[in-house]
Amino acid sequence: MTLRTPDSAPADFDNDQAPPPAPSTTAEDMVFHELCPTADVEEGVGKPFSIDGNHLAVYRYEDGFYACDNRCPHMGYPLSEGSVRDGVLICHWHHWEFDLKTGGCFLTNGDDVASFPIDVRDDVLFVGIPKGAKSAARQRLVDRGKRALEQGLKDRSTFLIAKAVTALRESGATPQEIIQHGLFYGAHKTSDGWSSGVAILTLCGNLWDDIDPADHNLFLVHGLTQIANRTSGSSRRQRFPFPRTSADPDLVTLKRWFRRYIDLRDRGAAERILLTLHDRGEPVSVLSDFVFTAATDFYFTGDGHALDFANKMFEGLDYVGWEGAHEILRPIIVDLVSRTRHEETSRWQDAVPVLAPVLDRIEEIWDANQAAPEETLDVSAFTKIMLGDDFEPIVEQIEQKLRAGVSPLALCRAMTYAGAVRTVRFHLKNEGDWHDVANIYSYAHGLYRAFQRAPSAQLLRGLFHGAVFTTYMRWLNMPSARVPREGQRLLGEESFDSPKQMLDRLQEFADFQKVAEAEILVNQYLEEGHDIAPLRHTLAHIMLREDAELHMFQILEAAFRHYELSSDPEEKRIHMLAATRYITAQKVMKNILWSTENAERLQRGELLSDRDDDD
Ligand code: FES
Repeated sequence: MTLRTPDSAPADFDNDQAPPPAPSTTAEDMVFHELCPTADVEEGVGKPFSIDGNHLAVYRYEDGFYACDNRCPHMGYPLSEGSVRDGVLICHWHHWEFDLKTGGCFLTNGDDVASFPIDVRDDVLFVGIPKGAKSAARQRLVDRGKRALEQGLKDRSTFLIAKAVTALRESGATPQEIIQHGLFYGAHKTSDGWSSGVAILTLCGNLWDDIDPADHNLFLVHGLTQIANRTSGSSRRQRFPFPRTSADPDLVTLKRWFRRYIDLRDRGAAERILLTLHDRGEPVSVLSDFVFTAATDFYFTGDGHALDFANKMFEGLDYVGWEGAHEILRPIIVDLVSRTRHEETSRWQDAVPVLAPVLDRIEEIWDANQAAPEETLDVSAFTKIMLGDDFEPIVEQIEQKLRAGVSPLALCRAMTYAGAVRTVRFHLKNEGDWHDVANIYSYAHGLYRAFQRAPSAQLLRGLFHGAVFTTYMRWLNMPSARVPREGQRLLGEESFDSPKQMLDRLQEFADFQKVAEAEILVNQYLEEGHDIAPLRHTLAHIMLREDAELHMFQILEAAFRHYELSSDPEEKRIHMLAATRYITAQKVMKNILWSTENAERLQRGELLSDRDDDD
């Protein structure tokens, strides 16, 4: 792929956007509809109408009649049930106030309500609806959604974000547009590295087809809410590519400089080099190679997050067509320069003397691998090797396999399978260490994706780093949790009339964190050969209805993708059980679900002010 360069102008989040133009009110643009006799509208009492799909509130005030959209732009309460005081229309739910004549909102950040002209003909009221009102209303919805999204992000309001997402999706905005908006904001409005919010938004794009369409808005709201929580509202300091001259440095020089400035933790210099590559229109493979090389120049940088997030960044950019790349590329530099380099930690002091000589001959290993005819790997058998207690023989075997022509992708698959085994064997007694088990699983999948994108000798180092980390994590399986046995069923041999009933039961188990029961049920579902898509939907829904954190999303992606890659029923089973175990074991809240459900109800025209439990 070739990069877009220069970028199309990004959204400017630093300036308040102008409100949408008011609908035209010239008589030629209007179609007037009869409403009722003037006598039917009492002074100060709103009267609702529904005309050609438009919901209106009509008021008599002093000597005139006025009409506006009946749905309060805050949360949809009927404005016909409000009141008018001194020409100010007051919504009776949360008391937003509007100029009755123009619809202008008195709240600084409140949306205006659309107003419509009224004509009185022989004591009968007529309301003017603009021609093409439906498309104008749709455009207003898009504009309002974009403004509300930015406001929600600035205010860190999940409900405003959910309202915006719902409105944008309803008005036809694509997930790519919404995700691009979020990625750009998330990169621009912080000085930090690649955050969990932008990673979740990228995962939203990656997993879009794996989740129930009814959960799509909820997924977007998750990512955007986390972005809001991790941005400050002030912009990242500006940086620019190098000037273009006839003496531009070549790629070898730029890569050497890039690695040196990352080594020196000089963030500004490294950012400028990355922006220069983008500005020069270098292919994605070149940018990937620079970033993946820097991410593996040190031992398992940031518990593998530097490489994992670098891969997510490229996936996100691909998903949004590289729009806004000059900004979205920048945060990863922070991850490369500031995260822990494990050769500097005491924990890795045993591993460094073992790994250093292997990494010194990495080019030679790579050349041997590329020259050898490709040899297939027994993924299952090698996974058992990777789960060994001592990293030294594992490192040796990886080198042997590479020299024999085994693809790095196959070794990544074995490492990911090992991550899944670590997860299903992770005992609940280790309560606080879920992140560690997630890191190896997610890292191995990220490395697999990185090899698909930009394989290189330098990237091979990531395999050795991951192998050592997998060994260090062996204590996570002490004691080792039981994995459901073949043919194992729930206590009492609970029976089900349909696969759907099984999945409903799975959600109940998740509600009460009945992890073992959930695993046994999923095991049964897989053994009985039911459709995998509804199971995926259910696992994703269980996660999305909670205020899930990044690792839950990562586990789901690794499990789903590696389930597809394998033709071995046992490997497939373990990946799906790993997802089940991780998702059902977490204790979280449901605020994002409630906000999104409320926003969707509003979009459908339901009243939040109505009680659900009314008789
Ligand atoms: S102020 Fe009208 S719905 Fe909240």
